[in-house]
Amino acid sequence: MLEFIDDYLNEDTLEKNITLIEKSVDKLLRDYRGFMGWFNPIKSLLNIDEILKVSDDIRKSYDCVLICSIGGSYLGSKAVIDAVKGKTFDLKEEPNLIYIGNSLSGEYLSKVLTFIEKKNPCMVVISKSGNTVETVLSYSVIKSYFKDRFKDYKERIFIVTDEKSGYLRKECKEEGFKSFSVPEDVGGRYSVLTSVGLLPMAIAGLDVKELLRGASDFHSSLMDLKYNENPCFKYSLSRYLLYKEGKTIEILCTYDAKMEYLSKWYVQLFGESEGKSKDAIFPSYLIYTQDLHSMGQYLQEGPGNIFETTIEVVNHNGDIKEAIDGKILDAINNCSMNELNKLLFEAVTLAHRENGVRNLTLQIDRVDEYNLGQVLYFFMCSCALSSVLFGVNPFTQPGVEKYKNILKRLALGENKI
Ligand code: PA5
Repeated sequence: MLEFIDDYLNEDTLEKNITLIEKSVDKLLRDYRGFMGWFNPIKSLLNIDEILKVSDDIRKSYDCVLICSIGGSYLGSKAVIDAVKGKTFDLKEEPNLIYIGNSLSGEYLSKVLTFIEKKNPCMVVISKSGNTVETVLSYSVIKSYFKDRFKDYKERIFIVTDEKSGYLRKECKEEGFKSFSVPEDVGGRYSVLTSVGLLPMAIAGLDVKELLRGASDFHSSLMDLKYNENPCFKYSLSRYLLYKEGKTIEILCTYDAKMEYLSKWYVQLFGESEGKSKDAIFPSYLIYTQDLHSMGQYLQEGPGNIFETTIEVVNHNGDIKEAIDGKILDAINNCSMNELNKLLFEAVTLAHRENGVRNLTLQIDRVDEYNLGQVLYFFMCSCALSSVLFGVNPFTQPGVEKYKNILKRLALGENKI
């Protein structure tokens, strides 16, 4: 089971703050009940057969799948697919997964249109609201392309959206597209373990049952723990107390680039959940070693208002030993690359601590579906609790509406700068 290793929080501090945690847990379960549909991952297993059937058909019928979504409807599945398959998955395996709908770049979408010209594509559109500008725009561009090119265009479009409302639901009703519903009580960034995340992952060939089993086992393990043993409680409390000590930036550190999107998912989860008052940790991420050659300097000698949270992986599916010998560097003789990477983590922790940068560690056995299920659940649970500790609603994002409203006014020709 995932382990949270914390050299910051001692027994005394934990005991002193246990009431704070208890109150926040009560508030979370009482005041935000209507947003907690993700809390027991076992629920998703009920819908899994249909997801597996549709994803299987898609894998057999098409060589290219356009995944059209943004934010919480996009990052979770990409995070897990990249982490399990490796960063170079795109364009290397069948079916190709091409992500669209997550920007307004006309250049990108026109390149995608050229790319799919020689392909046999379908599209999976994912949007809880069914109204998001970027997603709906890209959807309609691709829909009209499909309509011109394929008689069976209706068979090639799959929608994941709200059961009743939104533009995409209306489209499903009018066109008869195959669709899945996003549970009402699960918000975008907490939806990775619903059809939102599971459908693209299953299409990519991932074992989504294992992912759900990982999340579910972790959920069950939490139920048996005392407050002062619960890793989510400890992590949330450590973040909160570190912030009070002036550590206003949290860096999620990973030691393999295939976890970049997992880090982006974490940034979105915490940034959008907690960033609603002047008191909020700024979540960011770095990938080591590449970022030691850039931001490493800032961490070592900069303002020191930072703490690191590292995802440490114990076992790997591949390694290199042969090429490493004393001729390159005496010190690394007899070390494989993975062993060196492990030593690096220790070295980085010790070095950064000299500048007051503390490290919290999330240790997992390996990067696979089962362990990632635990990681996703750990962060969602911790984030919801942590937001309540900071006094904000974890499940809304009123600030995100601002730019959309201004964009609408500008597009209508009002208030031009
Ligand atoms: O976490 C959230 O709620 C947001 O990031 C949404 O996921 C994002 O804005 C996309 O929304 P939708 O799924 O409605 O298209």
